[in-house]
Amino acid sequence: MTAVTQTRWEVGGEFHSPVETPRPFHPWPRPAVWYALGRHAVEALVDLLRPRTLWLPDYFCHEVAVGWEGLADVRVYEDDPRWEEPRWETLHAAPGDMVVAVDYFGVRGEAGWEERSGAGAFVLVEDHSHDPFSPLAVASSADFAFSSLRKTLPVPDGAILWSPRGLDLPPQPREPADGSELKLAAMLLKGRYLANGGDEGLKERFRRLQIEGEERLARTSVAAASPAAREAVIGGAPLPWRVRRADNALHLLGSLSGLQTAEPLFEEWPAGAAPLGVVLLFESHEVRDRVRETLREAGVYCPVHWPNERPASERVRDLSARVLTIPTDWRYSAADMERVASLLHEAGTR
Ligand SMILES: Cc1ncc(COP(=O)(O)O)c(C=O)c1O
Repeated sequence: MTAVTQTRWEVGGEFHSPVETPRPFHPWPRPAVWYALGRHAVEALVDLLRPRTLWLPDYFCHEVAVGWEGLADVRVYEDDPRWEEPRWETLHAAPGDMVVAVDYFGVRGEAGWEERSGAGAFVLVEDHSHDPFSPLAVASSADFAFSSLRKTLPVPDGAILWSPRGLDLPPQPREPADGSELKLAAMLLKGRYLANGGDEGLKERFRRLQIEGEERLARTSVAAASPAAREAVIGGAPLPWRVRRADNALHLLGSLSGLQTAEPLFEEWPAGAAPLGVVLLFESHEVRDRVRETLREAGVYCPVHWPNERPASERVRDLSARVLTIPTDWRYSAADMERVASLLHEAGTR
C-alpha cells in the first residue's frame, strides 16, 4: 500500500494508515512478549508473580489504574512529572511487591530506581509507553519493562514486555484482542479522510470505529498483539520518527516563548530523549479547556495526560486539570509546528 498523501491539515488524533516507515529501525528488545495493550503486560506479570501489593504512582492514567484494582491490593506512592524523582518516603514496598515506575513523557532522567529496587527490595516494572526507546528504556536494568505502542507508533493495538535483567517472562498469549480490527479499519478510513480533503461523513465513521474499537479493547483480558500491529513494527521502530519528534518539540517550544497563559511543563530533556510532545501547564482549568476547544476547532487535537475522575490529592487534581499535550510527532513538519504555535498564541491571549 502506498502512504497517504495528506491534503487535509490537522494535528493530533490517532494515527492513520498506511504510512511510510523510514529506516533505520531501532530493534526491539529480545526476548519479549507482545500484548494487545500495555495494561496486559502488567496483568500478565501480576498473574505470574502474584504480588501482594501493586504500587502505582498517584499521577497516572486513571482508566488503566482502575482496571488493575481487582488484580492485587493497589496502593499509590507520590510521583509527578515536574519532579526529578518520586517522593520515596511514600513508597513502602515490601519484598515481592510490584512497583510500576513511569517515565513521564519519555523525558525523565535516572530517578534512582535501580538502587532502591536492588537486592530483591521489590519487583520493578518500568512503564516506557511514552517512548520505548528513551535512553532510560534502552539502558534499563529493571526487572521488567513494558511499552504500549499505539502512543508513539501507527498500530491499532500492541504492547511489548521485556526483562532488562533477563528474568523469565510470562507466556506469549496467542489470541488477538477483540476491537483491534475496528481500530485498524479506523486507521485506514482516517488515511482516506486525510487524503481526500476531509469528508465529514468519513470522519464520523472513523471516529465511531476508533471509539468502539477502544471500548472493546478495554474490555478484553490479556491478549496478543494483532497480526496487523506485529506486521507494522516487525523490523523495529523507525529511528527518524524519534528524531523528528524531538526536533518538532524543540521548534514548538522555541516558538512559544512569551505565551501568556501557559508555561511548558519541561523545556529540557536528557541527551537522546524524544519527548512524547510539548506539555503545557495552563494558569487555570478554565483557560486550559478554552484553549483546547479553540485548538480543536482549528483541527489541532490535544490529549490530556491524564484526566482525573477519582479522589486524589490536591496536587494531582490541579495538575490534571491544567495540563495539555501538544502533539509533535513524526507526522508534522517545522511549518506545522509554527502554525500550531500561532494558534496557541492567538488562543492563549488573556
Ligand atoms: C504511561 C502509560 N502507561 C500505560 C498505559 C496503558 O496502555 P494501554 O492503553 O495500551 O493499556 C497508558 C495509556 O494511556 C499510558 O499513558
